[in-house]
Amino acid sequence: MKSIILCAGKGTRLRPLTHTSAKHLIPIANKPVLFYAIEAIKDCGIKDIGIIIGETGEDIKSELQKGSKWGVNISYIEQKEALGLAHAVSVARDFLGEDKFLMYLGDNLLKNGVENYANKFIEGNYNAFMLLTEVDNPRQFGVAELERGRVVRVVEKPKEPVSNLALIGVYFFDKNVHQAITSIKPSARGELEITDAIQWMIDKGYKVGAEVIKGWWKDTGRPDDILEANRLILEDIERDISEAKVDEKSQISGRVKIGKGSEIINSKIVGPVIIGEKVKIIDSYIGPFTSISERVEIIKSEIECSVVLDESKLEYIKGRMQRCLIGRGVEIYHSKDLPRVYEFILGDHSKVGLL
Ligand code: G1P
Repeated sequence: MKSIILCAGKGTRLRPLTHTSAKHLIPIANKPVLFYAIEAIKDCGIKDIGIIIGETGEDIKSELQKGSKWGVNISYIEQKEALGLAHAVSVARDFLGEDKFLMYLGDNLLKNGVENYANKFIEGNYNAFMLLTEVDNPRQFGVAELERGRVVRVVEKPKEPVSNLALIGVYFFDKNVHQAITSIKPSARGELEITDAIQWMIDKGYKVGAEVIKGWWKDTGRPDDILEANRLILEDIERDISEAKVDEKSQISGRVKIGKGSEIINSKIVGPVIIGEKVKIIDSYIGPFTSISERVEIIKSEIECSVVLDESKLEYIKGRMQRCLIGRGVEIYHSKDLPRVYEFILGDHSKVGLL
């Protein structure tokens, strides 16, 4: 079995972070979201992974290289235009050949991996198999209707949903999906929808199955999703502060992981928290569900439930920061001298909430 990971999306809902970084490389608990997908695929015993790339392809290539870090072989396949998920499969046609494959949307995160479902797909001899989860807002997803374990209908973004079971971004197919894709027409939003290809397979009598996943699933498309995914991943981290320098005035409680060369001085950290390498935390409070990447400095400030990326500096901030998503090299400081003014240099699509 092979796998394709779809990473061509631009991530417009994650601006300004995605002005300078591919959305698939945004770290969740200090690890790019795409790495979780590769690990889940590798755990299914799959070695050949095709990454479908668009505008952000060069960044993704330089981060993943050929995949040797994971012991897999990564190929890159360009999708020049965002014409839908089924279109992404069609550009990967040569890579996939006649093999069965796992298709994974590169910004999706699942708690329990997908190995179990890969086995069900193979053992059940399905032509297509998809993963579902119950949602409160089925109008925003592809939705499936089940009868005795078989899928009888799938509808993309239904106005009147047939169920609350949404298709998450993980699908298994055999070669018959390729004929389905050449047979369907673009949808009203101008895309070749994978749901239409699946419906075509159902109509032609192919064996299409599904399973409702156990554990959480997150599509990390919006800032709130990143913070929530960060919270969910941090729920499972282990305490390890053995490589950090922590002075005797600091207090570190709970599951806190701190990287090499980081210094904690006169500060309080309450886990779950992850802190990368060469970070300085001085006279500060870091509260639960916070991820701090590398070479960050936090001085006389308080922050919780947040994500702070490499080389940012937060200094002398009066109110406690909460639910912040702070990119790379950002500086936030409280002016110490007069005039006491707000002084902003913000990129396009930035968001600032003031006290
Ligand atoms: C896509 C699929 C949809 C699926 C969703 C999962 O939607 O078309 O069927 O439920 O991913 O995230 P999109 O993100 O393109 O709106």
